[in-house]
Amino acid sequence: MRLALLGPPGAGKGTQASRICNVFNLLHLSSGDILRAEKMAGTLIGRKVRDFIDNGLLVPDDLMIGIMREKILPLKQGFVLDGFPRTLPQAEALKDMLDGIYKPLGLVLNFVVDAEILARRFEGRRVCPVCLTVYHLDTVPPKVPGKCDNDGCEQVVRPDDSPEVVRKRIQTYQESMAPLIAYYAQQGNFKTINASGNPDEVTKQVLEKVRRHFELDWPQ
Ligand code: AP5
Repeated sequence: MRLALLGPPGAGKGTQASRICNVFNLLHLSSGDILRAEKMAGTLIGRKVRDFIDNGLLVPDDLMIGIMREKILPLKQGFVLDGFPRTLPQAEALKDMLDGIYKPLGLVLNFVVDAEILARRFEGRRVCPVCLTVYHLDTVPPKVPGKCDNDGCEQVVRPDDSPEVVRKRIQTYQESMAPLIAYYAQQGNFKTINASGNPDEVTKQVLEKVRRHFELDWPQ
């Protein structure tokens, strides 16, 4: 099973990707997490992408496609792409790489959320810097305030969640997504998710669409 999740920053792609992967035993490939790890480690790639991330801009297509190709091509198990592709050239490159290994994308889910709701999601987002689990102060709180449920680490605010960078990220999304959505919308494997509800409501909808599309029995 191979899926890609599209949608604006803060739509809940990462949250739902992680849940889909747990249910169907897939690998979660978040382009943002991959880039942030490179940045934190101070690698050559990390140094190249740092300014783009910090300013809410897209990493150039050639670089981004190369990074994701390295991750995707060796994979033996199914996966959920979260945050990639984000432009038409990325989508076309993804198609070429997956066609080349006879493993085409099975389903593309486009997350749609009201702008007002989106703003609240950024304000409360906290992440574990170690296992990268995503929380929210109100809607997805940890069991112990401020601590990750999995490893007890102190949660942090993502540096690119400052109001100024968030504004830029949303603007970048609005400028780049139309051709991408038009590209996938004309294919039979594109479905829209109303992602404005609470996390469990969205998960229910997502799992239902995945199950129907792949004609799977409801997971126990
Ligand atoms: P990336 O990390 O991909 O960020 P994003 O797409 O902006 O998405 P987010 O991670 O902000 O949000 P999300 O949709 O995953 O929401 P989440 O589940 O966390 O990219 C970061 C940067 O890297 C980019 O700006 C760019 O520079 C670069 N980059 C990445 N990919 C690239 C690419 N392909 N090409 C070029 N550049 C690239 O949820 C948000 C919050 O809401 C959380 O607190 C969560 O707990 C909460 N929440 C989730 N769902 C719900 C719900 N249903 N109800 C209430 N709260 C919810």
